Amino acid sequence: MSIAVRMTLWYALSAFALIVVATGLLYWVLVNSMYREDLRDLADNLNNALLLLAPSPTAQYQASAEQRPSWAPPHQPEIYLRVLNAGAHVLTQTPGMARQLPPPSEAELAAIETRDGETRDIVSPSGKPFLSLIIRIPGQSAGERPRFMQVVMDREHDEYLLARYRERLWLVLGASLILCSLGGYLIARSGMRPIENIDRTAARIRATTLHERIESQGLPTELFGLAETFNGMLDRLEQSFRHVWQFSDDVAHELRTPINNLRGEIEVALSKSRSGEEYRSVLESCLEESARISRLIKTLLFLARSDTAMDALEREKIDVGQELQKVETYYEAAAEEAGVKLNLSAADGVYVNLNRTLFQQAVGNLIANAIAHTSVGGLVNLAAHAERNGLTVSVRDTGCGIAPEHLPRVFERFYRVDQARGGSSQNAGLGLAVVKSIATRHGGRVEIDSEVGCGTEVRLILPASA
Ligand SMILES: Nc1ncnc2c1ncn2[C@@H]1O[C@H](COP(=O)(O)OP(=O)(O)OP(=O)(O)O)[C@@H](O)[C@H]1O
Ligand SMILES: [Mg+2]
Repeated sequence: MSIAVRMTLWYALSAFALIVVATGLLYWVLVNSMYREDLRDLADNLNNALLLLAPSPTAQYQASAEQRPSWAPPHQPEIYLRVLNAGAHVLTQTPGMARQLPPPSEAELAAIETRDGETRDIVSPSGKPFLSLIIRIPGQSAGERPRFMQVVMDREHDEYLLARYRERLWLVLGASLILCSLGGYLIARSGMRPIENIDRTAARIRATTLHERIESQGLPTELFGLAETFNGMLDRLEQSFRHVWQFSDDVAHELRTPINNLRGEIEVALSKSRSGEEYRSVLESCLEESARISRLIKTLLFLARSDTAMDALEREKIDVGQELQKVETYYEAAAEEAGVKLNLSAADGVYVNLNRTLFQQAVGNLIANAIAHTSVGGLVNLAAHAERNGLTVSVRDTGCGIAPEHLPRVFERFYRVDQARGGSSQNAGLGLAVVKSIATRHGGRVEIDSEVGCGTEVRLILPASA
């Protein structure tokens, strides 16, 4: 069931229930006050009759229904009076009363003991409602039996008024049910309109229209937060999409250059006939270039898979000192060729749960960078120290350093400080991106400090978790 329908139902039902209770209460008050009014009328009539009849209690009561004056209000109810003796024998009564109501029985009179009398609702043999009040008039002298006086009021008119009132009440209730439903529906609709707007905007958003936002100004408080959260999500999505676009753009660009080189080299070789030696050298160069392309593709695949990797990393307990020793040995030749001294300081017997291959690759990338950017006679220092909550591997060099404006971007894919040196050269600008990705997959992070002309220090911080 939709929220609008539910809100409409709740509103209509609760408003209608309130109206029913209010009108019911009013009706009850009206019935009661009419009844009390009738009682008071009866009592007044009785008192008057007592005064009139006191001198001659058995005298004929003159008032009668037929003698009602023409100017008397039409709703004036008819009142009958009757005097009885203790034996329930009628001494005197309003003309026509016997026809409407038979006198009470002797037993009924005997039950009336107090002077206050007894009030009750009675229905005449013809089905008319009456209100009757009987009082007991004690005998004047000792031994004289008491008499009874009965005043009766015809309540048919009251019943008629109440019936008309009830009819109107039903009309009012019916109309208010319709109005409450209509009001509820309008309220629910206007309450739901902002949600519908949000829905429409959200439905409009595509990958190409990620810049669209939900207008949160003027929204109710509850929806303002929702709209802001949604807009925040769109911000992040837009940023990620931009990254992905940029990345695929870069990938295409980076692959185009080496493939063009390859093609150019082959075309030049084929342009005229050459010696076997020349063909051999071209083929070797092509092989080298394709090996580079294949390395690049492998790295890109690794980065793409790391981005979406959901499964836990395969870890094993490795001796950090030993692993670093292996990496250092691997890069010794390159360092020597570059005239750089490679130094390792790591304590033995430090064991950490890591993925061996990825760890070696990350440290290798850092050492390769350090050697590449340190001039002859420089120093590259590889150090590791383990703390209770993790392992820190630092690679520090005395190389050229990185200018502060480049520092925040060196971990981006394809970012090279010296873009001109990129292109067909050996560096793709992916090394630090891979290091960052490896650190992230281990639940760790990378930090970099650098000063132009003094050197650079990169720290790989991996938590000790398993
Ligand atoms: N130790 C360092 N000293 C000075 N500059 C550095 C150092 N390490 C990295 N950089 C700068 O940061 C850039 C990005 O490094 P990164 O390792 O990601 O790419 P790369 O070395 O150029 O290419 P790749 O590692 O993919 O072959 C480099 O181009 C380099 O300019
Ligand atoms: Mg590198």
